[in-house]
Amino acid sequence: MIDHVSRPVAVVTGAAGDIGAAIAAQLAETHRLALVDIDLAALDASAANLRKAGADVTIFRCDLTRVQDLSDLAIGVQKLGKVSVLINNAGAAAALSLHSMNAENLAVDLSLNLEAALNCFKAFETALIDSGDGNLINIASVNGLSSLGHPSYSAAKAGLIHATRAIAVEYGKHGLRANSIAPGTVKTQAWKAREAANPGVFEDALSWYPYKTLPEPEDIAAAVAFLVSPAARCITGVCLPVDSGLTAGSTALARTFTQSTDFDGY
Ligand SMILES: NC(=O)c1ccc[n+]([C@@H]2O[C@H](COP(=O)([O-])OP(=O)(O)OC[C@H]3O[C@@H](n4cnc5c(N)ncnc54)[C@H](O)[C@@H]3O)[C@@H](O)[C@H]2O)c1
Repeated sequence: MIDHVSRPVAVVTGAAGDIGAAIAAQLAETHRLALVDIDLAALDASAANLRKAGADVTIFRCDLTRVQDLSDLAIGVQKLGKVSVLINNAGAAAALSLHSMNAENLAVDLSLNLEAALNCFKAFETALIDSGDGNLINIASVNGLSSLGHPSYSAAKAGLIHATRAIAVEYGKHGLRANSIAPGTVKTQAWKAREAANPGVFEDALSWYPYKTLPEPEDIAAAVAFLVSPAARCITGVCLPVDSGLTAGSTALARTFTQSTDFDGY
């Protein structure tokens, strides 16, 4: 029999999505779960799967871009007990290019991908400090490290990576660690429209990855589990790419620059 009550609470936002659900499944091994999403039906389904596997799950419908909803969320979650982990995972990209960007989709990108994550951190700031061993993980993106389209989403994710460092620097004295993760291409519902436009989109993407495997939601979850674990107790302020080498460099460009056949066959 698992003693759930003595376990601290982990908050996972965007938990109805594919990466969020995988992170929740992983953290269920060590934590009680407070799962947050704007999509209540999908969140319910996600929670039901986790409960079947023995997880202790409470769900909270919340629009993370509404600051008032965040304080209500924090009050509700703290009734569950000590909150030691916050995973800011909810995110999505709106503007495709700078040319198609306008004031409206720029605001959407910044609001969800940067402001909501920081406001959510602020909502749980005291709880994370009081836990004595708080952990914040912000799910960023390779787009926050390199220019790969979706410019305002990317700018928000770059800002999130920087803000994570700032949190690590300011809150280390409270025993709080803050890290970000930059996933590469992960096949999730977020890709549905692009897959419909180009059924070969994942094969096309894969051709750019030095290590010839696209990350799965479980690979992002494994990185989260490591970063919140005692094994990472001296790791804070970093951005960990889970990107099969995408941001390490380009095999094709290395071939062009060196003219060496050592870079062929990829
Ligand atoms: N899938 C990828 O290729 C990829 C790559 C890099 C980074 N990421 C990042 O990983 C995270 C998860 O992405 P995913 O692919 O699982 O996406 P997803 O679309 O499967 O899940 C995102 C979830 O966030 C929720 N959400 C959206 N707006 C919300 C709001 N205002 N309030 C509360 N919840 C809201 C959605 O309902 C959804 O359940 C995102 O931050 C994304 O930017 C994904």
